[in-house]
Amino acid sequence: MPPVFRSLIYVPADKPRALAKARGLAADAIIVDLEDAVAPDSKEDAREALREALAEPFSAPVIVRINGLASEWATEDLLAALAARPDGLLIPKVESAADLERVGDALDQADALDRISLWAMIETPKALLNLPDIAASSEKLPLKGVVLGLNDLAKETGVRPAEDRGAFLPWMMSVIAAARAYGLVAIDGVLNDFGDDARLEAECEQARALGFDGKSLIHPRQIDTANRIFAPSAEEIAEAETIVAAFARPEHAGKGAIGLEGRMVERLHLHVAESLLARARAIADRDPA
Ligand code: COA
Ligand code: MG
Repeated sequence: MPPVFRSLIYVPADKPRALAKARGLAADAIIVDLEDAVAPDSKEDAREALREALAEPFSAPVIVRINGLASEWATEDLLAALAARPDGLLIPKVESAADLERVGDALDQADALDRISLWAMIETPKALLNLPDIAASSEKLPLKGVVLGLNDLAKETGVRPAEDRGAFLPWMMSVIAAARAYGLVAIDGVLNDFGDDARLEAECEQARALGFDGKSLIHPRQIDTANRIFAPSAEEIAEAETIVAAFARPEHAGKGAIGLEGRMVERLHLHVAESLLARARAIADRDPA
């Protein structure tokens, strides 16, 4: 089954009500945050709350976002996160493959390389310049995905965020190229205006068209939209089924390209259709009607 990561919601580790709520949310993954959402004075309390929260099960995989490796909190965060046994670790402010290797060494020491996957935030100018090396870390480390951090990227680059995200497009496509080259999951950045449903819809559609697998979210009300838009639609499923059925006809056996309703369909489209159907099945499995 292909992984399903349409919606990843950040939950501040120091907000007990939000953490309690997160346990039952329909997001595909919960990111318990020790970093930006937690004020410097609350870092210790947040680690303690993380330990308590992860002692009880969640309905989705849990990924812990530690503080940046260059910060004073990173070592304690890593120890607390490893002890809490999450499904994944999200590393912010990654600048190079060496950063991920450092986390990989900590996983190795905790004998956790085969049970905790790594996710890298792409949110610094150096991460953009080093994207190929960062993505290639997946050949040695359990790197599962990359998550765009557009708030930090805007801050670090001077890009003024606009509604169409035009200035970010080249970087978004670089992230997609790196992710696809190494089989990683690619997750779009957050929309801060969590009350703006139309804009969320537009950003999800845009990210999906660019090739992203899902979106990072900050508020429960954003989950349904992301889950809907990043799932194959009924029309896409019907279209994929038509293509699979066409190639299955005896007269098309062994053919590389066939005519279907007035257009050319190649065997590569069959593969696209099959993976779309596999993804639809994985989603149906996750969200039983
Ligand atoms: N995860 C789980 N539950 C959340 C949540 C989240 N990210 N955000 C809000 N909720 C819960 C609230 O606890 C509240 O539930 P309650 O009534 O049982 O307490 C309910 O949803 C409604 O919250 P609301 O009043 O609409 O939001 P708010 O004004 O209290 O908070 C934010 C708004 C943005 C501060 C809050 O959504 C948040 O902290 N989001 C995550 C921020 C973050 O992690 N940032 C770092 C990554 S970019
Ligand atoms: Mg940040």
